[in-house]
Amino acid sequence: VPLDAFNTFGLPATAARYRRIDTVEQLVALARDGALRGPRLVLGGGSNVVFTGNVDALVLHVALRGRERLADADDAWRVAAAGGEPWHDFVRWTLDENLPGLENLSLIPGTVGAAPIQNIGAYGLEMAERFESLDAVNLDTGELRQFSAADCRFGYRDSVFKQTEAGRWLITRVIFRLPRPWPPLTGYADLQRHLAEQGIVTPTARQISDAVIAVRQAKLPDPAVLGNAGSFFKNPIVDTATAERLLAKHPGAPHYPQADGRIKLAAGWLIDQCGWKGKRLGPVGCHARQALVIVNHGGATGADVRQLADAIAADVHSRFGITLEAEPSFV
Ligand code: EPU
Repeated sequence: VPLDAFNTFGLPATAARYRRIDTVEQLVALARDGALRGPRLVLGGGSNVVFTGNVDALVLHVALRGRERLADADDAWRVAAAGGEPWHDFVRWTLDENLPGLENLSLIPGTVGAAPIQNIGAYGLEMAERFESLDAVNLDTGELRQFSAADCRFGYRDSVFKQTEAGRWLITRVIFRLPRPWPPLTGYADLQRHLAEQGIVTPTARQISDAVIAVRQAKLPDPAVLGNAGSFFKNPIVDTATAERLLAKHPGAPHYPQADGRIKLAAGWLIDQCGWKGKRLGPVGCHARQALVIVNHGGATGADVRQLADAIAADVHSRFGITLEAEPSFV
């Protein structure tokens, strides 16, 4: 089964076996029968994978659909969506329902079920801050389990599903808590600038969503036009000594103090400083408007992507002594 259409990078790959999952009952039955054991890959929107060759495994395509409003809590509105729902459509639906809270995460590619795995985040909000719980099926046993926020151990672009529980579960449904009263988040520099340009002082949730969409479209390549997997590296989180060393030489370097005292740096800025922005290496390159994004100019393979990523990381390391970690998964 060809996977070209199942990864936003547009990399060529085939799956040895493929199964589309349409219902939780079907999934549980297959898992109980042991039909899902062995090498396998759960695929949502394919917006966070780099295929480096053919996938010698069973590929599970999550096609679970459905979204609903749940009973309100005193301090929150509550909504649920099935794992296969496209994330952005779900966000816009919550806004149609007058349920604000997810607007800063507008236009992120991928599915609802993939969102908790890497704890998607953008424009001043991480999904973890709006998360209540999720349901998942154990692919080896068919066990149905609910994971609380604590169970998920969310971190920056991280969760238990990328660590100790990696590959074991298929996320079938996610419940979100949207705090009321609604706290609008407009502090992120790009977002603030865009709203100010529009003369918007007290934005609605829909106006924030529209602003996020405009900012993303101005900076980030549309995967339908130019294959990519969003940010290719995580923003490195370093100790204060490392950050001070960088800032002594480059006082303008973007840096964001974290709750634990460490400092998050902007990988895009580090890569940009190394001169990679807009540069090409064969069929792949660094996006011209956001150096953190690697794009497929056409006909690229996973090996091309890896070669460019290694070259970028090596440059950043030799220039700044900072190690970049890839954000998408290599398969
Ligand atoms: N910068 C440059 N040159 C560049 C890119 C960035 O100088 O080529 C500077 C910017 O001027 C800014 C800073 O670096 O001062 C940060 O850039 P930006 O605001 O564009 O965000 P980012 O840190 O590069 C992160 C997320 C994005 C998310 C944006 C907005 C990660 C790995 N990336 O990017 O998430 O949309 O913030 O919140 O955390 C993704 O994960 O796929 C993704 C797109």
